[in-house]
Amino acid sequence: MVRDARSKDITVGVVGAGAMGRGIAQIMAAGGMKVLMVDANDGAAEAGRAFAERMILRTAEKGVVSDEVAAAAVARLAVVDALAGLAPCDVVIEAVVEILDVKRQVFGELEGIVDADCILATNTSSLSVTAIAAGLRHRDRVAGFHFFNPVPLMKVVEVVEGLETSSGVADALCVIARRAGHEPVRAKDTPGFLVNHAGRGLNTEGVRIVSEGIADFAGIDDLMREGGPGFRMGPFELMDTTGLDVSHPVMESIYEQFYQEPRFRPGPLTRQRSIGGLHGRKTGRGFYVYEDNKKVTPPAPPAPTDLPDAVWISNAEPAGRAMLLQALAGTVEIDDGKKPSTRSVCLFTPLGKDTTGSAVAENIEAERCFAVDTLFGLDGRRTLMKTPVSDPDLCDQVHALLAAGGHKVTVIHDSAGFVNQRIIATVVNIACDIAQQRIAAPDDIDKAVRLGLGYPTGPLALGDAVGPARLLKVLEAMVDFYGDPRYRPSPWLKRRAMLGVSLLTPEN
Ligand code: NAI
Repeated sequence: MVRDARSKDITVGVVGAGAMGRGIAQIMAAGGMKVLMVDANDGAAEAGRAFAERMILRTAEKGVVSDEVAAAAVARLAVVDALAGLAPCDVVIEAVVEILDVKRQVFGELEGIVDADCILATNTSSLSVTAIAAGLRHRDRVAGFHFFNPVPLMKVVEVVEGLETSSGVADALCVIARRAGHEPVRAKDTPGFLVNHAGRGLNTEGVRIVSEGIADFAGIDDLMREGGPGFRMGPFELMDTTGLDVSHPVMESIYEQFYQEPRFRPGPLTRQRSIGGLHGRKTGRGFYVYEDNKKVTPPAPPAPTDLPDAVWISNAEPAGRAMLLQALAGTVEIDDGKKPSTRSVCLFTPLGKDTTGSAVAENIEAERCFAVDTLFGLDGRRTLMKTPVSDPDLCDQVHALLAAGGHKVTVIHDSAGFVNQRIIATVVNIACDIAQQRIAAPDDIDKAVRLGLGYPTGPLALGDAVGPARLLKVLEAMVDFYGDPRYRPSPWLKRRAMLGVSLLTPEN
């Protein structure tokens, strides 16, 4: 039914010339397609076209394209004054307000205007594609085409198949996306599609860690940036950038749309701060304070310097012990006894367990017990975890030991899974569940998260790098400790960990 999407002469209609519509028009014209723009507001379509023109000309000024190429792209942009003007289109992309009835009305009218083989695509970010298509005569030609803001810079687009979308329509949209210089990822019509679904773990788990009094905002962000996972921003910096007025409603909406699935459960902390107007960068105050749009970071106090007399390291996690032994080599006396001598500080390297549980399991006084997170090795920022009764002087000594040689250290309260273990396990587990539900192919999940959320690696590849079996252990220990189904391991993760294969392994 679809005309050849690789054809040079494709005409794309764009309905709604706001922030998204004008960006979509720009990349389509730059990608060699004719574009017809329309908007319900007088002058808005022309304003959108003029904006897209300026942006295209700017790419020529920067030398990205030649003047001739830019002029040809600009010449492909045109405005029509009513939906009826979109009759010649091969594809119409709707980017009007996010209101179901308005979108249905637009598509209902379009059905009477465009040819039977014209694709109808919606840029909705949160509505169901199936719901938008319901009531139309030809529902098989309706698909989601979800771009991200700003469109020319965010090089990924979700191609969303509603219940009745034909695969040929999705194929054609993938071709069009590539022609426009974007990477398509295919997703089934489910709440949050791919990017907004996969992005649930980072923020909600960060919020839980703060709410449990384990670490503060900055401590968590520091660990996500410098403690191994290599994120550009931690959850609180990210929420401050997006704005809680946007992030919090998305958290609530996805949670409700999945019938209160515990994996996505938000916390009261973001709601309260959102109501209080602490939206982030845009209001000058969020989780951080901003001056001249720059985050104000108080200087970190110097690390203590007095070292402990001797250190005993539990062998409950032999790989973690070996890593810690190597990192501490030459800096402190190692107590090699089966049980610690009375003068030793005791260290643990648990996966998914807290320090208290680790100490009690080996029948050692919790006052002299501490844990170190080795999930990402010990090259980056190190996590030192106390028990509720840890001796403060001993804590300073272990801090000094971990900081020796200039390492940065974050001291946290007791937590089953430290900070990084539980955030990364949550992020990977949600991605595994997306794969398990066949919402998208494993490669597309990773691509969407890298390009749409800016994570350094896709969550499934990240899980592979850390080790599926270790993450499974973290999650199982967390379920055991918290009794919260939020942490139940996805069947996708469980099976691949048991089989010893990559989390990117699709089902045969
Ligand atoms: P916007 O408010 O900047 O632009 C919407 C435009 O649609 C306005 O110019 C308005 O006059 C026009 N419009 C409204 N009703 C219309 C109708 N019946 N017919 C023709 N034009 C109509 O909104 P924005 O941000 O561009 O969002 C558009 C769509 O894209 C929404 O569905 C939104 O959820 C989605 N989206 C937005 C993103 C964002 O970050 N802004 C990101 C991804 C998707």
